[in-house]
Amino acid sequence: MTATEERAPVAGGFPAGFVWGVATSAYQIEGAVDADGRGPSIWDAFCRVPGATAAGESGDPACDHYRRWPEDVELLAGLGVGAYRLSVAWPRILPEGGGRPERRGLDFYRRLVDALRERGVTPFVTLYHWDLPQALEERGGWRVRDTAERFADYAAVVHEALEGVPYWTTLNEPYCSAVTGYAEGRHAPGAREGHGALAAAHHLLVGHGLAVARLRERARPGERIGVTLNMSPAVPASPSAEDAAAARRMDLMVNRQFTEPLLGGAYPGDMAEVYGEISDFSFRHDGDLAVISEPLDFLGVNYYYPIHAAAAPYAQPDPALRSAFDIGVRTVAPDGPPVTGLGWRIEPDGLRDTLTGLAARFPRLPPVFVTENGYGDDGGLDDTGRVAYLSAHLAATRAALDDGVDVRGYFCWSLLDNFEWARGYAARFGLVHVDYATQARTPKASYRWYRDVIAGRA
Ligand code: NOJ
Repeated sequence: MTATEERAPVAGGFPAGFVWGVATSAYQIEGAVDADGRGPSIWDAFCRVPGATAAGESGDPACDHYRRWPEDVELLAGLGVGAYRLSVAWPRILPEGGGRPERRGLDFYRRLVDALRERGVTPFVTLYHWDLPQALEERGGWRVRDTAERFADYAAVVHEALEGVPYWTTLNEPYCSAVTGYAEGRHAPGAREGHGALAAAHHLLVGHGLAVARLRERARPGERIGVTLNMSPAVPASPSAEDAAAARRMDLMVNRQFTEPLLGGAYPGDMAEVYGEISDFSFRHDGDLAVISEPLDFLGVNYYYPIHAAAAPYAQPDPALRSAFDIGVRTVAPDGPPVTGLGWRIEPDGLRDTLTGLAARFPRLPPVFVTENGYGDDGGLDDTGRVAYLSAHLAATRAALDDGVDVRGYFCWSLLDNFEWARGYAARFGLVHVDYATQARTPKASYRWYRDVIAGRA
């Protein structure tokens, strides 16, 4: 048993050893973008583009966590979580993407990890939560293979420097990095490309696999290595054959093009059909799939909502000109279940279906952690909607355990209100409210509720 497993109480009918946690990411909370030699990331650059983010906001100052982290560690301790999922900012460690590591950046994470461990909180470290060094983007970003190799070098540097981290995650949500960032242009680097986005998805996966191999060579006893995917079941909007096919295309783009190579060692057979004429896969090299499908110790699943998909005319009728994002699908909002304060559909069964579906499809599925799940709103301290959402999704997680899925833990997104990417600061996901004018932290009703769940009282 690890320290986390010994410490975690039995709560809400969950098994002993179930890991209770919360999650954040570097760019969303740290601020201090010029401190201690940090280099610019693609998000610093993207946020400066007029109209790219709500109200032109950026991750500076975010929650000023870079300076206020001791207070945030106390909030974690007060919550009683056994684990905290954080990410390391690549541009703090290698400001130019490669070369000599910046000791001050590494020291920041060393202090944080030590403080967590002193408070009995196990760190789950994610190496890439979307903040690519801008210097690498200027050399092609994830469109080019070199970035995958630089990522593996960076992973080795961080791994060597940080002791006391039992769980290492390579990437967070490569779908968003590739599709939202390189095809839709809604996230950094703001590109709207077809082939570039397909190449980005592949190179992210190669980078993951190369990093896994590097970490394996150096792993200290008991360390576990995994990856985190965002997963949304794609549900046909009607019983028609057209909508069923549309849902399958959506499932390919969001889920299968990542799960199948990672967990099954092969790309889905319908990729070329779905992506049409941009399907030039010459960026795939012999041996890549073996690298990508290196065995994992755990899979992280981020779940928020399912997607209801209907067939739609292609925006670009000529397949030769079609972008990776133009797959002939429109998402629809059926009447029925409620939505979050941000208008996201609330369907907890989608989490259970995601978890049971993974177990059914992949015989080699490693243990799973729900590495993110949370409720966004623009509201304040009496967040009953968030409590209801989290409670229902914990019940769905519990149901997946009853179905026999090996779910080891659950991380609520997020500890703090923070910089919600293109939506800026108006969208709040925290168990703790942040007043950005003063940086005052105030626990919400959901913080107390989650604390009681963890303590076995709720
Ligand atoms: C997924 C991302 O990993 C995280 O950065 C984001 O804030 C949440 N979803 C909520 O949108």
